[in-house]
Amino acid sequence: MRRLEDKVALITGAASGIGSAHARVFSSEGAKVIIADIQEEKAYEILNTINESGGEAIFYHLDVTDKTAWKSCVTEAVETFGQLDILINNAGIFHPGGLEEETEEGWQEIMDINLKGVFLGMKACIHELKKIGNASIVNISSLYGIKGAPGSIAYNVSKAGVHLATKAAALEYARLGVRINSIHPGQIITPIIANLTPEQDSAIKESIPMGRSGQPEEVAYTSLFLCSDEASYITGAQILVDGGWGAG
Ligand SMILES: NC(=O)c1ccc[n+]([C@@H]2O[C@H](COP(=O)([O-])OP(=O)(O)OC[C@H]3O[C@@H](n4cnc5c(N)ncnc54)[C@H](O)[C@@H]3O)[C@@H](O)[C@H]2O)c1
Repeated sequence: MRRLEDKVALITGAASGIGSAHARVFSSEGAKVIIADIQEEKAYEILNTINESGGEAIFYHLDVTDKTAWKSCVTEAVETFGQLDILINNAGIFHPGGLEEETEEGWQEIMDINLKGVFLGMKACIHELKKIGNASIVNISSLYGIKGAPGSIAYNVSKAGVHLATKAAALEYARLGVRINSIHPGQIITPIIANLTPEQDSAIKESIPMGRSGQPEEVAYTSLFLCSDEASYITGAQILVDGGWGAG
């Protein structure tokens, strides 16, 4: 049995990396997918792959920092597919910057996309999700949302915010049929890690107990579980997908 048969999933940042893995995996499990991103060309490549393999997907140009665009995106999703069951708040950026290097503009950019984007996403979708009675939100935080790391203060704080925004919202909707959980990836091979400094990259590689970085699909399969009915008693949880990195 396909684990997301007939469910509708809105996935932000779905044109690349972890988000595109979600789009492919969720579609292969029967979900209808809204690929929401600012990168059109890459989004259409994912869209075509899904549609050619018999899945159903649409692309919506969504900047997650834009409240009005969120509203229209949800409207389009529901007009196209009739309902909304799943929100994956995945869009995010990283740039290095310690306390002395990070600028106010850099701080604001990371907060707007990584943290405000998640807040706006949950806010825009919750009305439709509540109608389902068995809906799910997964917020992609980071291991850096749990433990501090040198040289990425804004990213650390944005992802810690996602971590607690998840728990706060999970408590609010626990009796209203919307389960809300966060995933905390360690180092996953996607374009975003090109922004690490060489020192950060090698420090991370040495710290991973399993001795390797993760693949985007390893995050997507964790979300798949959380969004499926198999996870019906899980809300407000944080799941690390990190090769054991956070265990030490
Ligand atoms: N790759 C890792 O090692 C790692 C580790 C921990 C957490 N994460 C988190 O996973 C998520 C996905 O990252 P990834 O590694 O796949 O990186 P990625 O760069 O491959 O993908 C990020 C996607 O977000 C989109 N995006 C950026 N700004 C946006 C905006 N304003 N509105 C809409 N979309 C926007 C990009 O266009 C891109 O498609 C991010 O939240 C990231 O912080 C990644």
